[in-house]
Amino acid sequence: MLGFSRRKGRVMCDGRLSHIAFIMDGNGRWAKRRGLPREAGHVEGSRNLERILRACLDRGIVTVTVYAFSTENWRRPEKEVSAIMGLLTSYLKRAREEQDQNKVHVRVLGDISVFEGEVQESIRLLDAETAHYQHTLNIALNYGARQELVTAVNRLLAEGREQVTEQDISEALYTAGQKDPDLIVRTSGECRTSNFLLWQSAYAEYAFVKTPWPAFGEKELDGVLRDFYQRHRRFGGL
Ligand code: IPE
Ligand code: IPE
Ligand code: MG
Repeated sequence: MLGFSRRKGRVMCDGRLSHIAFIMDGNGRWAKRRGLPREAGHVEGSRNLERILRACLDRGIVTVTVYAFSTENWRRPEKEVSAIMGLLTSYLKRAREEQDQNKVHVRVLGDISVFEGEVQESIRLLDAETAHYQHTLNIALNYGARQELVTAVNRLLAEGREQVTEQDISEALYTAGQKDPDLIVRTSGECRTSNFLLWQSAYAEYAFVKTPWPAFGEKELDGVLRDFYQRHRRFGGL
């Protein structure tokens, strides 16, 4: 028996899939294949984020997390890094301007202290101003799961803890208070996590699809959702 229903020809999700995460990979290769500079792939990738976010919410998913920029992505050429940062800051700016239409709580996961004061402030304001919405978009930006864990442990040590529980760690992560992802989708064919949500993914289902992120549309989304509902999650039980 499948756990989703179809409405208007699309897959509808229930509480078993309330949090989906995307490792939005393959922008550069998508562009190169078209003879375009890698930056053009990031432009199309950021447009696709808006499309797929809407598509997920339309399908009943409550939380969408996207991996936008890792702590390791600073190793790329400056030109590419600044193009990605430009796109992300304009995305955040638009999200603030259009918050009444989007109706999504936007949170940034990652170390934002590296950004200019103005950017940090607009991230905080966007989070606070949209906090009353039921749906959440987490944007992992300057995010690395190892760095997240180290920061969490240091925070607990600074509070004077000598012993910690799993719950203490969960609550010290950027995702504090959120349900763990049910499904993590990585586009573009690589089968690795690249330092994404290492703690939170303990029992996540993974989907690795060949389609590069800019070409990942509603058809591909419905494909991974349908596949998810055919799996049997046991969480260590029978
Ligand atoms: C994902 O696409 C976006 C970021 C990592 C910022 P890539 O830029 O990694 O594209 P490929 O994997 O090189 O094709
Ligand atoms: C992971 O993709 C990070 C993001 C999608 C933001 P990468 O392209 O950076 O990962 P690797 O280098 O192929 O592992
Ligand atoms: Mg990549």
